Amino acid sequence: MINLSRRPRRNRKSAGIREMVQETTLRVSDFIYPMFIQEGANQKVEVKSMPGIYRFSLDNLLEELKEVTDLGIVAIDLFPNYPESKKDRIASESYHENTFYLKAITAIKEQFPELVIMTDVAMDPYSSDGHDGLVENGKILNDATLEILGNMSLAQAKAGADILGPSDMMDGRVGYIRKHLDTHGFTDVSIMSYSAKYASAFYGPFRDALQSAPKFGDKNSYQMNPANKREALLEAQLDFEEGADMLMVKPALSYLDIIRLLDENFEIPIAAYNVSGEYAMIKAAALNGWLDGDRAMMEVLLSIRRAGAKCILTYFAKEAAMILNG
Ligand code: PBG
Repeated sequence: MINLSRRPRRNRKSAGIREMVQETTLRVSDFIYPMFIQEGANQKVEVKSMPGIYRFSLDNLLEELKEVTDLGIVAIDLFPNYPESKKDRIASESYHENTFYLKAITAIKEQFPELVIMTDVAMDPYSSDGHDGLVENGKILNDATLEILGNMSLAQAKAGADILGPSDMMDGRVGYIRKHLDTHGFTDVSIMSYSAKYASAFYGPFRDALQSAPKFGDKNSYQMNPANKREALLEAQLDFEEGADMLMVKPALSYLDIIRLLDENFEIPIAAYNVSGEYAMIKAAALNGWLDGDRAMMEVLLSIRRAGAKCILTYFAKEAAMILNG
């Protein structure tokens, strides 16, 4: 005899009931929109491997931000694109005063005072080696890099950044940056640390966007091995103790278990970075007519929230906001 006294389908029988019992929700304010900025005027250059994503010059970025904020997006993460000629071994453009990136942060803050501005703290867009740390004899130095990250952080805080995102994976950087900021009076600038950042193939399109691919070797000596889970707990624990306000997992989709693990173990918000390659995959399939891009996008974003992320850095922010706003 089949036992049908329990019929889960009853809770799915109408749109109303389905909504009533829905456990996880997506809101526009869950999104942090990563954006790319480059020097110049009237520039809007599409990133080839990221259809719908552009590198803007400041004037066009400010225009774009009207649209972004009108959609209800509350936060952006801004990444600079530097020409090869401005890069050097010590990433000096990352902390010189009045660079176009720092000036842009100030200009955005002035025009959009309510917008949360997150910045990236890592050497790679400014480094002639294309690495996140200082290179000496083919090795990535940890402690010498911290000083550069400290200077970079302070410059970004002075420019008006609300949240700093150290994405470099050097040991001890959160504590170093926290102390450096506090010493200079920036106690209210937050740190969202890239705690569990894996050495991933899914960063490819981002490196195209910033022309920031490593000039030699790979990032395996600082980014995490995709095979490891326990190590994510250790990284998160250290970042927490060193003063991080939020912990991030990156990428998101192949690491939903890590998002869950951190959410269950830490009392601060967990963020997840739905990275460039994850965006590109869905876009490519959708453009080929191989899957319904909008539905795939919403499903992916929801799954990241369901795993335990409070907020999501995603290139889909605008498109998803349009759908959520109806
Ligand atoms: C670099 C950085 C990377 C991303 C964010 N910050 C790339 C890397 O580590 O090589 C990737 C983001 C994405 O792929 O969307 N510090």
